[in-house]
Amino acid sequence: MIKLAPSILSADFSRLGEEINVVEKAGAHYLHIDVMDGDFVPNISIGVPVIKDIRKVTDMTFDVHLMINNPERYFEAFAEAGADIINFHVEASQDIETSLRKIKVLNKRAALTIKPQTDVEQVIPYLESLDMVLIMSVEPGFGGQEIIIDTLKKAERLADYISNHNLLTEIEMDGGITLQNVNQVLSSGVNVIVAGSSVFNTTDVSASVRDFYDEFKKFGDN
Ligand code: DX5
Ligand code: ZN
Repeated sequence: MIKLAPSILSADFSRLGEEINVVEKAGAHYLHIDVMDGDFVPNISIGVPVIKDIRKVTDMTFDVHLMINNPERYFEAFAEAGADIINFHVEASQDIETSLRKIKVLNKRAALTIKPQTDVEQVIPYLESLDMVLIMSVEPGFGGQEIIIDTLKKAERLADYISNHNLLTEIEMDGGITLQNVNQVLSSGVNVIVAGSSVFNTTDVSASVRDFYDEFKKFGDN
């Protein structure tokens, strides 16, 4: 099943709860939450207290994308705040195996993320312990950038590997995805679509979510 994960980075933070309710009612499955530390990426966004508060307004699956150095320091805090999927970068972690074990002990879903320049082979050794792999299709740090189409090759390689080894790992892509290019993204084997500006920076957020699901249906998802 193909899922949409609206990224709240592009939401109106003065009415965050309402924005979340709109995407939930429109049928989005995951809520993508971008956490930035101003160190791993050149930007600062939101953290634990915000996640704790928005946990009260929705039952959506919280897909927490940690763009922070040494992310393992904060796994417990994010788990307690209400994260369902803990997504951290291979480039930011000192010890990926121990980190993944830590997430499992917390009873959360584990996902590994790679930046556009990082080889997809780096996640292959961990696939058996991963619920999801997130392939960044823009340099992390900001919403509203243009997709780097070359990153789709990584999704193709990963999708082949996952199907050849009968794994159930989801493949998520994040950055620059629009209604115009989502079909191409899905064709590469991606099944979780992150969309920030193309959901929240529109005149009708609910219609934008529904338009994405229409595209999924056209692609052959039911
Ligand atoms: C960027 C974030 C993305 C961002 C995507 O570092 O990880 O999740 O919100 O925004 P769009 O969809 O506008 O590229
Ligand atoms: Zn993200």
